[in-house]
Amino acid sequence: MDVRSMTKRELSEYIEANRDAPDPALLSEAAGLRDEYYGRRIFVRGLIEFTNCCRNNCLYCGIRSANRGINRYRLTKEEILECVKEGRRLGLGTFVLQGGEDAHYTDDVLCGIIRSIKEYAPDCAVTLSVGERSYESYKRLKDAGADRYLLRHETADKAHYGLLHPKEMLFGNRVRCLYDLRSLGYQVGAGFMVGSPYQTSETLAEDLLFLKRLEPHMVGIGPFIPQAATPFGDKRGGTLGLTLTMLALTRLMLPRTLIPATTALGTIDSRGREKGFGAGANVVMPNLSPRERRGDYALYDNKLCTGAEAAESIDQLRALIEDAGYTMDTGRGDSLVEAVRSDRKGKDKVYEYKQ
Ligand code: 5AD
Repeated sequence: MDVRSMTKRELSEYIEANRDAPDPALLSEAAGLRDEYYGRRIFVRGLIEFTNCCRNNCLYCGIRSANRGINRYRLTKEEILECVKEGRRLGLGTFVLQGGEDAHYTDDVLCGIIRSIKEYAPDCAVTLSVGERSYESYKRLKDAGADRYLLRHETADKAHYGLLHPKEMLFGNRVRCLYDLRSLGYQVGAGFMVGSPYQTSETLAEDLLFLKRLEPHMVGIGPFIPQAATPFGDKRGGTLGLTLTMLALTRLMLPRTLIPATTALGTIDSRGREKGFGAGANVVMPNLSPRERRGDYALYDNKLCTGAEAAESIDQLRALIEDAGYTMDTGRGDSLVEAVRSDRKGKDKVYEYKQ
């Protein structure tokens, strides 16, 4: 299917017709493309959820600032380094530092953390996922050694964005951040939730077109799962079928991108990750956070953090991957999308967002 040449209308009609069950032909085409570009390899990243303090109040998220029902925690640099050391013992070559938007982690603090990780393991890749910051801040973090940055756009429809977020959060700023990160030479991950409240097939079509324009190195896609203490606690969650359809369409749109089979997908279906691989996904991010903290990083209800989801059970993860017909790759696993594309004169391309 020639997804790259489809219009918004065509994409949204296709999505509408395949909401409940993905077309097996679509899945095999997507998985085949993944095989062609990356081989049958699944890349493994160690996820360190280092703070659940957040100044934002996103309506869907369990660590939103208004949620008084969770224990807030912050890991020190030393505690983060312990997680990295554990990851190295397990053979991991990439670490993802994810947290809420927490003012405690100033540029200086984060730069110090990044430098000590790079000092300890110079050959590893450091990925940050700490939300919206200024160009200057992203630049300082890059100069300190950060290689990649994950910032899901959540939805590419401005009106829909407004329904998922408090009014201080602006879609335009989110997009500005993504283009700034791209310009600075980060490998950038965008992404969205499937089945979030008020989402339609049209908004999902817009997500695909947005991704086509941005051409990110990674795309994180998972089902929305209600979290009881949020305003969306009694909304319906996203389905397995629609998530698989969106994973496969994203693979066809961006054959060179890295696509995780997310924890959320593993949470709504006991074979969710394997089914994600079958739709073209090729990354998993097992949890390296201190075990006693994992329950407090509760973005949504029943979030997996044991079994193959836990980095210490890496053998179980390897078995899951191999049983599904793939090999596990714990290396850096760089994206095939170039970090900063150069124009014909050899100058770095500056990514600009026109609103
Ligand atoms: N269900 C599924 N995913 C969620 N996220 C936050 N809250 C939820 C939820 N209730 C996702 C967002 C965010 C990422 C870290 O987790 O897409 O970017």
